[in-house]
Amino acid sequence: MSALLEIQDLHGGYGGADILKGVDLSLARGQIGVIAGPNGAGKSTLLKAIFGLVTITGGRIFLDDADITGLAPEKLVRRGLSFVPQEHNVFPSLTVRENLEMGGFIRSDDLEPHIERIFSIFPPLREKAEQPAGELSGGQRQMVAMGRALMTEPRLLLLDEPTAGLSPKYMNEIFDQVRAVNATGVTVLMVEQNARQALAIADVGFIIASGRNLHTGTGAALLADPQVAESFLGGRTPEEA
Ligand SMILES: Nc1ncnc2c1ncn2[C@@H]1O[C@H](COP(=O)(O)OP(=O)(O)O)[C@@H](O)[C@H]1O
Ligand SMILES: [Mg+2]
Repeated sequence: MSALLEIQDLHGGYGGADILKGVDLSLARGQIGVIAGPNGAGKSTLLKAIFGLVTITGGRIFLDDADITGLAPEKLVRRGLSFVPQEHNVFPSLTVRENLEMGGFIRSDDLEPHIERIFSIFPPLREKAEQPAGELSGGQRQMVAMGRALMTEPRLLLLDEPTAGLSPKYMNEIFDQVRAVNATGVTVLMVEQNARQALAIADVGFIIASGRNLHTGTGAALLADPQVAESFLGGRTPEEA
């Protein structure tokens, strides 16, 4: 089976020294992939590189066997990519509905059925539809951000730390919703600091350190790997946690 997303020996950064120093990643259609690793490892840079937002100095990125290396974000959106950055991912002064409409900007069909589709994935947003997104809780703002990204019906959704700063209750809710999104057929690649919980829902996980792959495996295999647990999961096995 060929991968939906295939990254080979990717190098790149922001114009100075490379931040990504040879990343390999393969994600099959329908999977949830999780990228974890220490602060400053290049996780966000990797997502931005996939979405055409950093300078790639070497390597290749394929989407469904098509070479998308270096394509601009607007072209990538038309090819089925969508990206939720960690910060500034909603328009706070616009209502929830207006945020979703912004997300559908490339659509030429009626947006209403798509907004309905988003409300069915994120039910709490329905009653907040006419409220400014900035007035919502952190968890609900994250739902708006994901909903906005889903308005284009992406094949691959890139999420950068969707649970950052959320309470455990909202964190679990967001993980449930990522699974719900995935169940609608969207392949998901997300960066997460809450690595243990994220790997628990991951088909495949990638531990990145200093711009390189350190460990790759199924979510379950990485969770069970004592070296991974020691260095990246707080050093405790699931039984002790
Ligand atoms: N816009 C930028 N310009 C220059 N350097 C950056 C920029 N964003 C991040 N970096 C640098 O790239 C490295 C990796 O950052 P990042 O990808 O954000 O790490 P992570 O998401 O794994 O915490 C860090 O050294 C950071 O300082
Ligand atoms: Mg980051």
